[in-house]
Amino acid sequence: MHIMQCAMENLFAHTADYYDLDTRFMPGTDLDLYRELLEIQGTPVLELACGTGRISIPLAESGASVWALDRSPAMLAILKRKRASLPWKVRRRLHPVVGDMASFRFLRRFPLIMIPFRGFQALTEQRRIESCLHHVKRSLAPGGLFVLDLFAPRVGPALTECATDEHIDWVYERPETGELITRTSRRRGVDTARRILHTEVVYYVETPDGKRARRADDFSLRYYQRWEIETLLCSAGFEIIAEYGGYDKRPLQAGSDMVFVVRVAQKPNTLRIMESWRSE
Ligand SMILES: C[S@@+](CC[C@H](N)C(=O)[O-])C[C@H]1O[C@@H](n2cnc3c(N)ncnc32)[C@H](O)[C@@H]1O
Repeated sequence: MHIMQCAMENLFAHTADYYDLDTRFMPGTDLDLYRELLEIQGTPVLELACGTGRISIPLAESGASVWALDRSPAMLAILKRKRASLPWKVRRRLHPVVGDMASFRFLRRFPLIMIPFRGFQALTEQRRIESCLHHVKRSLAPGGLFVLDLFAPRVGPALTECATDEHIDWVYERPETGELITRTSRRRGVDTARRILHTEVVYYVETPDGKRARRADDFSLRYYQRWEIETLLCSAGFEIIAEYGGYDKRPLQAGSDMVFVVRVAQKPNTLRIMESWRSE
């Protein structure tokens, strides 16, 4: 794959304007869990891969100091636009930062760090995945929690099929502009060795005066089986303190989404494993 293409992937360079339409039907449950953790952990909060501020803005509105980091200038521009219309008190609590979640440094440490809505899966190279976890660990305050969620891959023929045809995900008329927007997606391929799904997302936009535009981006997302992400987190020095099959805290089951709440391991994980082995 061309190096420039890799650099553009997963950053919504052409489609950031439509991201909030994708998430408009999302239930409030992920925000509810973050609010609950915020209550326990206190602030400041660091949201990595914050996008357009779907989570960061309401957290800042409810009183938290939030550092919101994203690598996409297009997504952050939208967050900043929304921030500009917030009351001054909220604005000064919300700090947008252009940065890479695989390599970041803050002078402060955070009692709560999160990567909501599958953002972690945008990292596809092992070196960068491990680097992200290393930087999270270094940025957590003592007793700090790190939360991330992932989708579970559908195993079986759906995944082994290399590509799928373009299909319509939704059609929506944007009330502010009168634009008729049709979102489609297609899987361009699956790299089963590196566990990466390649997808193209397209928004066809028709304005009220009949002009048409096509906006498209490529996304490459690393997928994990439950044991893989658990092993990764533990070998990076984290201890899993809760795992759920969704933000409503349903139990983790095969095929469900995965939500992990972790903290820096109190003892080396190898020791913990040995101890449980000894007690059997
Ligand atoms: C699915 S969106 C999630 C946005 C937001 N957290 C939410 O819950 O709505 C994923 C975000 O990850 C960002 N992203 C992708 N790779 C990144 C990286 N290496 N560092 C920081 N952000 C990244 C994208 O720009 C995008 O805003």
